[in-house]
Amino acid sequence: MKQVLLGGACLVLAAIGFARAQTSEESTRPEDFIATRQAGMELQYAVAGDMKRAVAAKLDVHPYKDGADAIVLWSRAIPGLFPAGTDKGHDTKAKPEIWSDRAGFEKAAARLTDAARKLSQAAGSGDKAQFAAAFQATDQACAACHHSYERK
Ligand code: HEC
Repeated sequence: MKQVLLGGACLVLAAIGFARAQTSEESTRPEDFIATRQAGMELQYAVAGDMKRAVAAKLDVHPYKDGADAIVLWSRAIPGLFPAGTDKGHDTKAKPEIWSDRAGFEKAAARLTDAARKLSQAAGSGDKAQFAAAFQATDQACAACHHSYERK
């Protein structure tokens, strides 16, 4: 009886160990990082697209403060979504330079953070001309990083 219990306990422990190994493995799968960063980029693209239309139509810019704040937060999260080992799979367009020139990549993300902060300030103040200029700088920060670190 004791042996059966012990065997059962071992099985349970083994099952827990297996489940843990599986969860931790799943949460660090390269394709999850890639899917997450691609989804974030697409959301950011949608937010920026709304802003672009607002600038073109000279709309009130106050409603775009939340979007600008989200880009600030997102831009700071970008480097962490490109850990080593996520250079392949899931249709990634990430260039190897992201890892060989890490400082440059982080600087490109920081450039977006700075631009989005100014965008947020402009939206908060409601100054349309300032918002338009900050939007252009933000757009350039996207393009600069893509130019160096995203495959066409
Ligand atoms: C610090 C670098 C960097 C910045 C800044 C950046 N991106 Fe990206 N972006 C990338 C990289 C690298 C990829 C490719 C990711 C992959 O496929 O794994 C990408 C991919 C994308 C994609 C394609 C996503 C998909 O469906 O595969 C879109 C859209 C995009 N970015 C929009 C933007 C916009 C809009 C901005 C600015 C508001 C921006 N990005 C700023 C690096 C950057």
